[in-house]
This record gives sequence, C-alpha cells and structure tokens, in this order.
Amino acid sequence: MRKMPFAWLLLPCLLPTSAFAGEPLAALPPVPVPDNNVQTPAKIELGKILYFDPRLSGDGTTSCASCHTPKLGWGDGNALSIGYPGTVHWRNSQTILNVAYLNKWFWTGSAATLEAQAKGAITGPLAQNMNTGLAEERMRQVPAYAKMFKDVFNSAPSFDNALMAIAAFERTVVSKNVPFDRYMKGEKNALGAAAVKGMELFQGKAGCVQCHSGAMLTEQGYHNLGVPVNKSFASDLQRQIAMRERIKAKGIPEAEFLSFDRDPGHYLDTKKAEDKGTFRTPTLRELKYTGPYMHNGVFATLDAVIDFYNRGGDDDPFGTKSPLIKPLNLTKDEKAALRAFLESLSGDEILVAAPDIPDYAVLPFPLQPTYR
Ligand code: HEC
Ligand code: HEC
Repeated sequence: MRKMPFAWLLLPCLLPTSAFAGEPLAALPPVPVPDNNVQTPAKIELGKILYFDPRLSGDGTTSCASCHTPKLGWGDGNALSIGYPGTVHWRNSQTILNVAYLNKWFWTGSAATLEAQAKGAITGPLAQNMNTGLAEERMRQVPAYAKMFKDVFNSAPSFDNALMAIAAFERTVVSKNVPFDRYMKGEKNALGAAAVKGMELFQGKAGCVQCHSGAMLTEQGYHNLGVPVNKSFASDLQRQIAMRERIKAKGIPEAEFLSFDRDPGHYLDTKKAEDKGTFRTPTLRELKYTGPYMHNGVFATLDAVIDFYNRGGDDDPFGTKSPLIKPLNLTKDEKAALRAFLESLSGDEILVAAPDIPDYAVLPFPLQPTYR
C-alpha cells in the first residue's frame, strides 16, 4: 500500500453502495447432482418408494413422508415436529422442497451431504429410530426391492444404496413456475408493483439480503436472531426432555444443559460460546406451503415474521444476537410490500402421490442371484 497511496482514495468508489457482499438474488438454476450419485429414473423411483416406506423405522410406523408430507409443504404442518412414536421433537420439521440446492442440512447445518442427512433421519431416535442392519434385512425380504436394487445398483438391498436412492428422489422435489424466477428470467410482469417494491426493500432498507441471498435466498451462514421461545415448548416437559437428552448426547455438561431455557442451536455441534442460539439461515422459497416458521415454529404467519424483524428481533439470553438484526421502521405499506415479495417466491404446489409399497415375501430357497 505504501507504493500506492491513492488506492485508499479509490477504494470507496469501487465498493458497492451497501456492505452486502453475498451472492445476488437469482432464479433457481438446474438441480446440482453429485458425481457419485447420478440421477436415473429407476433410482428416483426406488428412492420415492423408500421415502414413503414406514418399514424403514424401528416400529414400522414412520416414514420420511410422516414428517415431510407432500400436501403439508413437505413438512408436517406443526410448529414442533411430531417425533418418532413415544417421543416428541423440539424443532420444526423442515421442508424437503429444494433441499438439493443446499450445502448443509438441518436447522444447525449438521449434515454435510443429503445422503448423510437421510442416514441421520432413519437412525435418529426422534425420527425413525432404526438400526441400519435391520433396515437392510427388511428391504431384502421384499422381492420387489431385491429386483430394483439389482437393476439400479447391481447389488442386493444395502443401507448405503438406500440412502443414495432417497437423496436422488429428494433432488426431484423442486420448485416449479415461481413468479420471482420468471421475473428474474426477464418476464417483467411476473411480479406486481408491490412485490417489486418489496424486493427493493428486501435488498435495501430491510436488509434481508445480508443473510437471505443467492438463488436459494440463504447464504447458509449461522445467526442468532433472538427468536422467542415457543410456549408449547416451554410448557411441554417431554419436548424439553427430548432437547436436553440430545444436548447431553452431544457431550455438554449437565450443569450447563440443565440451565438452557431454549435451543442452543449450532453450539451443540461446535461447543463455541459464539454459536449459542445460532441457526443456519433457511431458504425463503415456497414459504406459502411451509409454515409455521423458524426453528421452533413460533410464528404462524409471514406477517408475524415481518413484525418480528421490524421490531429488531426479541431478547436473547445467550449474548450472541446478530448485530444485523435491529429495528427497521417499516411502514404498513412497506411491510405489505415485503410480504408480497416473499409470496412471489412460491410456485405451483409440488404434490407426489404416495406410491404402492411392495410387500414382504418368504424368500425362495436356495436364494436366487438377485438376493446376493
Ligand atoms: C419424526 C419426524 C421426522 C421423520 C420421520 C423424518 N424427518 Fe426429516 N426432519 C425432521 C425434523 C424435526 C427436522 C429438523 C431437525 C433438526 O434440525 O434438528 C428434519 C430435517 C430434515 C432435512 C433438512 C432440511 C434442511 O433444510 O436442511 C431433510 C433433508 C430431511 N429432514 C429429510 C428426511 C428424510 C429423507 C427422512 C426419511 C429418511 C426424514 N427426513 C424423516 C423430522 C423428521
Ligand atoms: C442476520 C441474518 C438474517 C437477516 C438480516 C434476516 N434473516 Fe431471516 N432468517 C435468518 C435465520 C438464521 C433464520 C432462522 C432463525 C431461527 O429459526 O432461529 C431466518 C428465518 C427467516 C424466516 C423463516 C423461514 C422458515 O422457513 O422458517 C423468514 C420468513 C425470514 N427469515 C425472512 C426474513 C426477512 C423478510 C428479512 C428482512 C426483514 C430477514 N429474514 C432478515 C437470518 C436472517
């Protein structure tokens, strides 16, 4: 810098007008597919059946579709998820819509691939509470599965291949005909005047784009907004036990985990004080179908979310609240415009009918090659 003293003077002219440095808002690109799990129609079809098959849960009652139901926005419609029978979950069930586009999964981003996420769901005690070996044995006793795995993977049904197929199916559950996308591709009348004004506010006065950026409207960072405790968590001992049990399993000392009145979020994975109460920024696509909102489903409507941001979030006992969350002084019209923009991020409802689940059968003896 000593050799170029004038560079300092030039720098402000080179910077954009806001401090925002993330990806610009954009239409949804084609679905990214990892090299090690290419999409084929037969694999997607197998994954779809497995997604709906409750035999992949310990007691045979609960499939992915139990908590990620197509007609409930691919979530379960509740503020807090139902959980595996005999348990209740303490977080909101996230949508499957567009998960293909994320680079980490769960409210705290604790799964690094979609395939690994599916493993967490099947084996997790609050989701499907299943043992991997037993899952494999059950699939092997379904002749139709033996044939499908043979065709797709050239192997007998295996747990890891089941995860690949489920992830392949999830990669087909994507937005369609979204007004915002049409607008970004040049169809200027795809958005009304209010939504266009809302988009300006989103990227300007309201500052949403600082975290909700790029084609998925998330930079996938972690933040604490000071989201209030959900009353149905505060008054439900079983949900609190579920949370504390999970915290304990993550190796956090008892004196500490007993003191939390709310979800410590990403801290569970990193154990760093600055991560307490932070969650991965969620996508804002398809909000029309995916309420209630936030990691604990505390807000039932988008108006409630906008009011929350407008008042600068709520109190935070962890001392980690994002400095980006502060009162916005939005007028009534501005709030309505922001909501119109959020609504423009939802497209046609994506529905998939539950497939027929193939039956078990007594295995023929000696075993046919398809079972090996
Ligand atoms: C009993 C309810 C339940 C079942 C069954 C269940 N899930 Fe979930 N799912 C949840 C909850 C709750 C979360 C959020 C949990 C968290 O962040 O700790 C979640 C999160 C996810 C996410 C993360 C989305 C994102 O934006 O990061 C994906 C993907 C997912 N589930 C897929 C599946 C698949 C695939 C199956 C079946 C193999 C499944 N789930 C079974 C309740 C369930
Ligand atoms: C500091 C980063 C940040 C900023 C700025 C921000 N958000 Fe968020 N947003 C998040 C995070 C993180 C969550 C999840 C928080 C949680 O559950 O505790 C979230 C959640 C949401 C949700 C709920 C989504 C769901 O599926 O549950 C909506 C809607 C939303 N934000 C809209 C907005 C709007 C509108 C603005 C601007 C007024 C905005 N956000 C500004 C980070 C941010």
